[in-house]
Amino acid sequence: MTNQNNKTEYQGPERVFSGVQPTGQLHLGNYLGAIKRFVHLQEEMETIYCVVDLHAITTWQDPKELHSAIREVTAFYIACGLDPKRSILFNQSKVSAHAELAWIFNCVARMGWLNRMTQFKDKAGKNRENASVGLFAYPSLMAADILAYKATHVPVGDDQKQHLELSRDIAQKFNNDFGSLRPGAEHFFPLPEPLIAGPAPRVMSLRDGSKKMSKSDPSDMTRIHLSDSDDDLAKKIRKARTDPEALPSESAGLKDRPEAENLVTIFAALADRTKDDVLSEFGGAQFSAFKPALADLAVATLAPFRDKAEELMAAPDEIDRILEDGAARARAIADPILAEVKDLVGFI
Ligand code: TYM
Repeated sequence: MTNQNNKTEYQGPERVFSGVQPTGQLHLGNYLGAIKRFVHLQEEMETIYCVVDLHAITTWQDPKELHSAIREVTAFYIACGLDPKRSILFNQSKVSAHAELAWIFNCVARMGWLNRMTQFKDKAGKNRENASVGLFAYPSLMAADILAYKATHVPVGDDQKQHLELSRDIAQKFNNDFGSLRPGAEHFFPLPEPLIAGPAPRVMSLRDGSKKMSKSDPSDMTRIHLSDSDDDLAKKIRKARTDPEALPSESAGLKDRPEAENLVTIFAALADRTKDDVLSEFGGAQFSAFKPALADLAVATLAPFRDKAEELMAAPDEIDRILEDGAARARAIADPILAEVKDLVGFI
């Protein structure tokens, strides 16, 4: 894999970092946009995957629920195919370098940059004055997550694009402000490259094809949870909003049909097929025929993850041991990088 933007300047190893928040239940968007791709990358590069509990508390979390959500995301990481020996799996609060580097980045990032973040505007809603300071500074913590490991590649869904651009701006400004003062350190941090590829970078709500599938939507029927029972999976797909037309035989025919496009995209991503390939099979079919096929595919793909995650959740000590081991390996990479950062900034 090439790292086009900074191939010539940044000399360090290629490394993947990404994270998922332990808030609410994981859904199909999290799987197709992120976790499924984490699993593939594990075969190609050094991979570090975090359960971002420090990010979670930027909005209120019940402590007991947070505790179990951290284990649940870890269980799903493993159930979906991440191997804790091959990838480093840990929760963010166990590695203090994240919070320390985030503070330094809070002093590098500009108010104007953070003011432009659409996710803050969406999450804070009308009552901005009442949002936590952490929610505003959320993107600097994200930059710290990535850059504490000098990660070069970051697989995420489409909704994280703006945050990743900000991480690159922070890396660039840090390199200019501090790296340029010391010969050889001008490219101290890589400019991390977002990996927003894949067949489903933006899975949409099952009830409204113009909105992304999201943990925060008040209706459960808008999203497929990875923990859904077979019956719930089938019911949600059966009740998904569609239009009255039959399916087209090529993907060009999905234009202006967002709900149809979403269901075909989900089918293709779950089956590792292209949309055109799926439509060559279902072109001309009504949704009454397509939806049961999609439900069968979703159950066949997702039920084993759910069952495996349940099994893992029954042994919480083992999950805790995996997180502890991952945190120790994460610290071994991040601590020396943080020590260099502190030195560059001028701390004794
Ligand atoms: P989070 O927890 O909201 O989502 C986890 C991942 O799932 C992706 N995603 C989607 N992909 C496709 N379609 C959707 N409807 C959909 N909904 C969510 C997200 O893009 C994400 O990749 N800020 C991040 C967590 C984070 C992080 C990081 C990511 C913290 N530090 C450093 C990368 C690098 C977040 O809130 O993800």
